[in-house]
Order: sequence, then structure tokens, then C-alpha cells
Amino acid sequence: MKRKLSPTKSIENLVKLLRAKPSPPASLADNELLRIIYDRRSVRSFTRQPIADDVFNAILEAGRLAPSTVNLQSWTFAIFDDNLWQQTFEHSIPFHANRAIIVIGDYHRYRTVLEDFPDCPLTEYTIAVINASLAAMNMNIAAEALGVSSVMLSETGRSGLLDAKYLREKMALPDGTVPLMTIVFGYASGHFHPMPPKLPMENITIPGQYQPTETTVMKSWLDQMIAGYNVSHLGSSFQKQLEIYQSKINRAETDLRELVFYKERP
Ligand SMILES: Cc1cc2nc3c(=O)[nH]c(=O)nc-3n(C[C@H](O)[C@H](O)[C@H](O)COP(=O)(O)O)c2cc1C
Repeated sequence: MKRKLSPTKSIENLVKLLRAKPSPPASLADNELLRIIYDRRSVRSFTRQPIADDVFNAILEAGRLAPSTVNLQSWTFAIFDDNLWQQTFEHSIPFHANRAIIVIGDYHRYRTVLEDFPDCPLTEYTIAVINASLAAMNMNIAAEALGVSSVMLSETGRSGLLDAKYLREKMALPDGTVPLMTIVFGYASGHFHPMPPKLPMENITIPGQYQPTETTVMKSWLDQMIAGYNVSHLGSSFQKQLEIYQSKINRAETDLRELVFYKERP
């Protein structure tokens, strides 16, 4: 993927990005939950203000109460303040956030009572990913409702799925568990957290049968991604970042096959 934009095109794309501001229809304008969901942004810069225990526990509770397939609750939440994160990983919580939760897909726990559960690693893994991700999103929205910002991480600071093997070793996790993401939490510093480009509704909804998205739509999305990345990461480039990400994905693929399809089964 080589895509170079002229300065004029880059500015046009930046303007598009900055103008995008989703809002509910007027008839639903005072719906608080919709406002929270529409305004949510991944935040990567936090103040030093600590999150009180009752606030953090309320966020965790929102995860515990999430829906799950057959109510299996196939998740585990590893919880950290900065001290514990430092002790475990020998550096600060990414982005100097105040608290962190590593969301783990867990299809190990229910086997202690459901011994005859079918041995279907791909399906069990996928179900665990679905359920744990729903719990993650519940915690993310609960945090927003409490004025706490967050970002989910899969690789920054060796924090999620792309470093699942490393995290499993560091936390002594058994077979049947896969760390999926870390959510780091804190109070946002500054107010400028622009929305990255979201695809138009007509391109992500289909009338029953699959409809290919026009390449021009995808190119416009990519151009806005590049423009946004390049202004917020001076000294790096979207292209460079993409290459790093792709090599991490390649390595994760090998690790995940080993973790998901482990041999030690009856
Ligand atoms: C599962 C998951 C993993 C993510 N991993 C990372 C990450 O490793 N580093 C990062 O900076 N952002 C990460 N993000 C945040 C995305 O970049 C962000 O959600 C996306 O750009 C859309 O922005 P928004 O959340 O503000 O809508 C992740 C998000 C999700 C859902």
C-alpha cells in the first residue's frame, strides 16, 4: 500500500475529519446513553487524577453483568493499578493511565464443572472472544458514563491479543485462556480527541445480500486515516505504522494457533 497525498488533499481530508460530528436525531437529542455512545472516543492522554475504588469497581461490575452465550461468562478480568502493572510488566501502564484491565477470553473455567463440554477449540475460542469483548464494551461505556476515559489495546505496550503468549507467561494463565485486550482508564487530559473516519452507514449496511463497497469510498476512508495519523504522529507515518502492525500480526498468528489449538485435551 503506497499512497502519497498532496498537501492540498491532506488538508481537505483533515477538514473532513474535523467536521465529522455524529449526533442523534432531534427527537432523541436528550437521550443520555446515546450521547455517551456517540461522544465516546479512544483517549490516549490522561491527567494524574486517580480513579476512586468505588468508580473502578462500578466499571468492573458492568463487565460482570454483561450478556454471554448460554450465560457461560467466559471471561476473566485481570485488574491493575500502576504499582501492580509495574511489578508485573516492569514499565508503566500504557499512556500513563491510572488503572488497567486485561480482558481474558476464558474457556478454561467452565470445564471444571462441565467436563463433557465438546472439545471444539475454534468455536470455544470464538465464543469466549465474543463474550469477553461484550464485557469489555460494557466496561468502556460504564467508564464513559462515570466521566472516565479509556482506550482498548491489542498491541501498544504488549497489551493484548498480539502479545497473548507473552501475557499468558507473565500472568501464569492456563490453557483455555487468551488475553484479548487491555483497557486502560483515566481522566482525559485536554478536550481534543477527534473522531477517526467512520464509514458511511450506507456502506456498512446491506439489504439482505452482500453489496461490495465502492473503491472510491474505501480510498476516501484510507486518505482520511493517513491524514489524521500523519498530523497526530509527527516523525512517524501511517505507512511505517502499518508495516510494524502487519509484522506483529504475522507473529501473533503463529502464537495464537499454538494457544487456541493446544494439545493437552482428553
Ligand atoms: C480490540 C481493540 C484493540 C485496540 N488496540 C489498540 C492499540 O493497541 N493501540 C491503540 O493506540 N489503539 C488501539 N485501539 C483503539 C482503536 O485504534 C480505536 O478504537 C479506533 O481508532 C477508533 O477510534 P475511536 O475508539 O475513538 O472511535 C484498539 C481498539 C480495539 C477495539
